[in-house]
Amino acid sequence: MAILKILQYPDVRLNKPARKIEQVDKAVQKLVQDMAQTMYAAPGVGLAATQVDVHQQLIVIDISEEHDQLNVFINPEIIASTGVEISEEGCLSVPGIYDKVQRAEKVTVRAQNEKGEIFTLEAEGLLAVCIQHEMDHLKGKVFVEYLSQLKQGRIRAKLKKRLRETL
Ligand code: NI
Repeated sequence: MAILKILQYPDVRLNKPARKIEQVDKAVQKLVQDMAQTMYAAPGVGLAATQVDVHQQLIVIDISEEHDQLNVFINPEIIASTGVEISEEGCLSVPGIYDKVQRAEKVTVRAQNEKGEIFTLEAEGLLAVCIQHEMDHLKGKVFVEYLSQLKQGRIRAKLKKRLRETL
């Protein structure tokens, strides 16, 4: 297993849409393991392949305290959604920035697992927010892009300043 480098906003590679995974093979399974390890090490509750500069439709999520309930979604599709929920989100690609985003309250997602098997999952609460956030990454969208232009400008300035300070 390996810890992968997470792209940092506003890296333009975060805006690249991910391709569908045609076959869930050993290379995909290795990527699942590496992404899970990278997410747990960060630590975070979700990671999309886009964030590690792999532009394939794969996300990993684990919202458990014990880090023992890994959810793998390959080629995820939201087939139903209801309600509206506004909650504060953060992102491993936008460190230290948290803001409110509006999402569907409940979603039904259909995807393949790491064995290539198709499953359907109904999610609500944090898991539903997480699924929608990570699926946005696969479309090339980062959560801060829902905020006003003014806020986005401030966030970019803050992150660039921090980047300069660490060089
Ligand atoms: Ni994110």
